[in-house]
Amino acid sequence: MLFDPRPKSSRDELFDREEELKALDRFAERGDPLAIVLGIRRIGKTSLLKSFLSEWAGVYVDARGVRTRADLFRAIGEGLSASRRVRMMLRGVRGVRVGPYGVELKWRGPDSLSLAGLLHELGRGGGQVVVVFDEVQSLRPPISAEVREAIAYAYDNVPAVSVILSGSEVGLLRDFVGVGNPDSPLYGRYSLELEVPRFSPGLSREFLREGFREVGVDVPEALIEEAVTVFDGIVGWLVYFGRSYLDGLRDLDRVVKAAVETALKELTHLRPRERLVLKAVASGARSWSEVRDYVESVEGVTIPKASLTRVIRKLERLSIIKDYAFLDPIYERASRRLGGGDRA
Ligand SMILES: Nc1ncnc2c1ncn2[C@@H]1O[C@H](COP(=O)(O)OP(=O)(O)OP(=O)(O)O)[C@@H](O)[C@H]1O
Ligand SMILES: [Mg+2]
Repeated sequence: MLFDPRPKSSRDELFDREEELKALDRFAERGDPLAIVLGIRRIGKTSLLKSFLSEWAGVYVDARGVRTRADLFRAIGEGLSASRRVRMMLRGVRGVRVGPYGVELKWRGPDSLSLAGLLHELGRGGGQVVVVFDEVQSLRPPISAEVREAIAYAYDNVPAVSVILSGSEVGLLRDFVGVGNPDSPLYGRYSLELEVPRFSPGLSREFLREGFREVGVDVPEALIEEAVTVFDGIVGWLVYFGRSYLDGLRDLDRVVKAAVETALKELTHLRPRERLVLKAVASGARSWSEVRDYVESVEGVTIPKASLTRVIRKLERLSIIKDYAFLDPIYERASRRLGGGDRA
C-alpha cells in the first residue's frame, strides 16, 4: 500500500524510482566498490535501498541509534538475518552462528569477528553481496572509524562486496566518507553518488491519486492539488497526508499543522543559535548579512562573525537549508514557530 508509513521493501510497492533502481543495479552488476545515496529526510532513501536489495544478496544495516559496538553488531546481525542468501553464505564462518531465529555474531573475545573480517567472509560466499549502511553519518567515534576502515578494507581487498552508504544529512555523510580529508582511509577513492530527488508536481499528483485509488477513496482534485503544492514532492509528507486523510483528518490545514509539530520536534535537538538562524531564514533572510541583521535587530543578540558562518554551514551540512532557503517547506513553517525565548 502506497500510504504505508513504513519504508517500502519490495520493488512492487515502490512508486517510480526506476532510474535510481537501474543505476543501483548497474552498480552492483559491475561489482563496483562504493556508492553514496544522498537525500533529505523523508525523500525515500530507505525505501529505495530496501527495494533495491530485495533482488540482491543484500545486507541492510540501520546505523540510526547505534552508539556502542554492541549496537553496531546487533544492527549488522539483524541485517544478516533478514536475507536467506546471506545466511547461507555465512554457515561455518568463525564467530558467526546461523540459527533458526537469525544470525548471532561474536564480536568480542576469542573467536570473534571484526567488521572487516565479516566483509571478507561475505566476499567468499560466491556472488556479489551488497551491504548498505543507512544513516551512517550518525555514527560517532570510535565506531565511525571502525566502519570507515572496514569499508576501505573491502574497497581494496574484497571485490565481491559492494558497499552503499546513505544518509539524510548530506554534508555530514560526505564528512563521514572523508571527501576532501586526506586523513580518511576513503579519501580519493571513487564512488558513485546518487541523489534521491523529490517528485515533480506531476509525479506527486499521480502518487496521491494512486494511493487513494488503491484503497477506493475518492478525494477532491482541488485538495490533491493543494497537497501537491504544500508538500513539494517529499514523498514521506505525501504519505503523511494520505494516511491522515484516510484516518479522518480531512482538513489540509490541520494535516499541515500536525506535520509541522512533527518537524518542530525534530528541530529541538538543534542548538539555540542554530534555531535562531533557521528562524531568520524562515523570516526571509536571504544572505549572510540579512541573517545577521535579523538576529541582531529582531532578536537583539549578537553572534560573532565566524560563529554565524559556522552555524550556517552546520545547517547546510544537516541538509536543512541550502543557499539561504529551506529544502523542506514543512521545516520552514516549523522554523517560523521556533521560540525566541529558548536561546541560551
Ligand atoms: N518510491 C516510493 N513509493 C512509495 N512510497 C514511498 C516511496 N519512497 C518513500 N515512500 C514512503 O515515504 C515514507 C518515507 O520513506 P523512507 O523512510 O524510505 O524515506 P527516507 O528518506 O529513508 O526517510 P528518513 O530520512 O526519515 O530515514 C515512507 O512512508 C515510505 O513508505
Ligand atoms: Mg531512512
